[in-house]
Amino acid sequence: MRFAIFASGSGSNAARILQAVQSGDLEGVPQFVFSDRKGAGVLFKAEQYNVTAYQFSPKEYESKEEYEEALLKLLKEHRVEWVVLAGYMRLIGDVLLRHYEGRMVNIHPSLLPSYPGLDAIGQAIDDGATKSGVTIHYVDRGMDTGPIIAQQSLSIERGETKEQLTTRIQQLEHQLYPKTLQRVFKEGEAYQ
Ligand code: GRF
Repeated sequence: MRFAIFASGSGSNAARILQAVQSGDLEGVPQFVFSDRKGAGVLFKAEQYNVTAYQFSPKEYESKEEYEEALLKLLKEHRVEWVVLAGYMRLIGDVLLRHYEGRMVNIHPSLLPSYPGLDAIGQAIDDGATKSGVTIHYVDRGMDTGPIIAQQSLSIERGETKEQLTTRIQQLEHQLYPKTLQRVFKEGEAYQ
């Protein structure tokens, strides 16, 4: 499967996905990494794994539609079949969903539907939750609302800080995302 990764941040998940491709654990062909943030860590990760990186932001376009049209053009040029969101901090609009709904996945650091949106780990801690985890889901029009593909939970220890929980959740993410993508790509292939 030909896939692209969209990310806004440090790109630790993107790096693990690219590593899994390199080691043969994930049978997919990364076409490019895209970031809407200048200087985002993920752009350096792409370089490290020899994957093409693109960067531009909606601010450079008249509208969100035009911005997404530019992304769609890239996706078409590279004949991308799956879009993998890994810390991409924007809602996906109609232009992209029209083409990629059902072939676009996201990872979120909570057990959805609990704690969608920003700072999910902080929300869980502030709420006194005793359990949290990671969710991988298809992307739809909502914020972290699409059909769930995989979840893994962990217990929040008493007195655990947000930083400690973030580290443990990231470890889970790094295991779960490549493994789930392998399954999703394989299933997708079977339907082709
Ligand atoms: C991850 O926690 C992911 O669940 C969320 O954004 C974070 C991205 O982290 N959507 P990184 O850039 O992959 O390190």
